[in-house]
Amino acid sequence: MQNNTFSTLFVGQNLIKLSAVDSTNNYLKNLASNSEPLAEGTVIMADHQFAGRGQMNNEWIAEAGKNLTFSLLLRPNFLKVPEQFLLNIAVSVALNEVLLKYLPSGLSIKWPNDIYVENKKIGGILIENVIVGSNIKHSIIGIGLNINQSDFTGELKSKSVSLSQILQQDVNLMALLKEICTQIEQLYLKLRAGKYTNLKELYVSKLYRLNEVARYAANGKVFEGIIEGISNEGLLKIKPIDGETVEFGFKEVAFIN
Ligand code: BTN
Repeated sequence: MQNNTFSTLFVGQNLIKLSAVDSTNNYLKNLASNSEPLAEGTVIMADHQFAGRGQMNNEWIAEAGKNLTFSLLLRPNFLKVPEQFLLNIAVSVALNEVLLKYLPSGLSIKWPNDIYVENKKIGGILIENVIVGSNIKHSIIGIGLNINQSDFTGELKSKSVSLSQILQQDVNLMALLKEICTQIEQLYLKLRAGKYTNLKELYVSKLYRLNEVARYAANGKVFEGIIEGISNEGLLKIKPIDGETVEFGFKEVAFIN
């Protein structure tokens, strides 16, 4: 285990820093599947990912040395498979809470777990669960946050934003990682203690476009509707303005600008 100055119980206590790797999620997944037991809370962070992965097989592109790209190992074997969305909730609320200290306004969580500032993405989460029987054996929580990157290219230019672009100053990456590990641990321990009602309410209250009329696309059609919340399994509840509330799974609905 590497020593560091994190004042957490376990999240980030074993911190492995890499200068370059394909993807910290891949690296941690391989490490966790080796026979040697790996400590819960292990964090792999990289200055540069040359094949960073996002949700829905997208790439995660981040300028080397300027951003936070890391993966965390958790063993939430107290969660049944239908409850796995609670992990998304805990991690996205934790990121939101930490960023709130830097950005008091404009932050939200775009369902299921993108971190947004106004209409731009500042961070994303890729959670990969290993399921054995009806429980989650371990979970690889991959987090990418745009921190000190001063510009974005291609289609990211209009869609992404970094913390330093908003603050007009750079932020210390290790200090921020420490705050994030502390916050994730706190909320994870709450989950482990079964205290997740408030967490769920907090998550819903932070949802991007909550209670606003906006456009969505599903089943080949664009419609206007209002996000009302989430189901127990984490499905997104949208009420079309001219119909009954519908619950959508991850790939079933798109947000339209
Ligand atoms: C998304 O919004 O699509 C999720 C992005 C997750 C990116 C992070 S960066 C660290 C970890 N390693 C990866 O390859 N992906 C995640």
